[in-house]
Amino acid sequence: MSAAGQAAAVLPGAPHLARRGATLQLEGHALAELARRFGTPLYVYSRNAMRAAVGAYQRALAGRPHLVCYAMKANSNLAVLQTFAEAGCGFDIVSAGELARVLAAGGRADRIVFSGVGKRRDEMALALEAGVRCFNVESEGELRVLDEVARAHGVRAPMSLRVNPDVDAGTHPYISTGLKGNKFGVAHGQALAAYRLAAELPGLRVEGIDCHIGSQITQIEPYLDALDRLLDLVESVEAEGIGLRHVDVGGGLGITYTDESPPAADVLVGRLLGRLDARGHGHREVLLEPGRSLVGNAGVLVTEVLYLKPGEVTNFCVVDAAMNDLTRPALYDAYMGIEPCEARPGLLPQRWDVVGPVCESGDWLGRQRDLAVAVGDHLAILSAGAYGMAMASNYNTRPRAAEVMVDGAAVHLIREREQPAELFAAERLIQH
Ligand code: LLP
Repeated sequence: MSAAGQAAAVLPGAPHLARRGATLQLEGHALAELARRFGTPLYVYSRNAMRAAVGAYQRALAGRPHLVCYAMKANSNLAVLQTFAEAGCGFDIVSAGELARVLAAGGRADRIVFSGVGKRRDEMALALEAGVRCFNVESEGELRVLDEVARAHGVRAPMSLRVNPDVDAGTHPYISTGLKGNKFGVAHGQALAAYRLAAELPGLRVEGIDCHIGSQITQIEPYLDALDRLLDLVESVEAEGIGLRHVDVGGGLGITYTDESPPAADVLVGRLLGRLDARGHGHREVLLEPGRSLVGNAGVLVTEVLYLKPGEVTNFCVVDAAMNDLTRPALYDAYMGIEPCEARPGLLPQRWDVVGPVCESGDWLGRQRDLAVAVGDHLAILSAGAYGMAMASNYNTRPRAAEVMVDGAAVHLIREREQPAELFAAERLIQH
């Protein structure tokens, strides 16, 4: 086959993103063409990449009672939610806003788990009215409040306790959540007492147990350690006559941004199920809350090169996407791959810091990248499907990007580009 006919994947684990000849394509669609059609900055997602990612979890869980609850904080566009709802997923939500999105996208309330360390009473009430599957409760205080809210509604709130297993997920401190010093969950040593309390409170119905130890986890061992800690508790809780129907192992599986090699979802799930079986818990329903691993490598952020600014110390490649569009590099010092949408084989690569127009030195997308680029070219920031648009802001009164979903031959605009007037439409001048 000629070089022009061959599609070469550019990232492990992201087969839908490939270079054919000079052209970078997502599901066969040239990203530069989409950029010209819809403008930049532009998020582009592959629907089949999302389907494939969730399929790997579901196939590994087939034949077992299970529910994959997409952690929608990773990417909460309605069409993304619709894709996972149609694939049979539930959702892990952390706010009433997320609840409203799931319902608007056609997701089922009885497949929602409601996580989060700071649920308000009104949010609990809305979730009870909608009929969510389970509240993942994170403190004794929250147990008591949920009990009150449920009784006021004349119902019993289904709940599980989010246990902090004190396991090091080996990831960035900002996204590590299962250590003693973290704000999340009920300490392992206090969990039994909390279950006793939950079983006594008339507004609660104990359903399960859960944990979530962090994000961008690239090893299996922390999951197995956390599961062991959960199962120890399950055994002590059930010994007191409090039944636990499901075990929710949380999310957190990492993806390849550069040279990470996380386990494949089916390998991770296989090991978890193996441990459940080995400890005699194979009958239990398994819940998972993956976010990043379902959408991260299904999406890119496409941006246009505005200026090339060679400097004495650093060469700057100024693009039209910024930290407000994609905050992970600025916030976590995160590495995201950057690829030209059209390669320029005739041009010698130079070393660039790829930066945005926002007035902060922290506004960078990539540092010290060897790129052959010219003004007007398009660059794709890779692995941007998770925690990209979902964390975007309007800083510098920058309208948020448009979003496009490709699905085989089809191209869907799933979010229009914001207009500046929308950004201050809710603000009011003071009347004299
Ligand atoms: N479940 C709970 C309770 C969570 O807090 C999270 C993520 C997940 C599930 C999904 O985790 P995932 O599978 O996506 O790793 N903004 C950061 C990531 C923050 C993750 C917060 N919690 C980033 O861009 O890396």
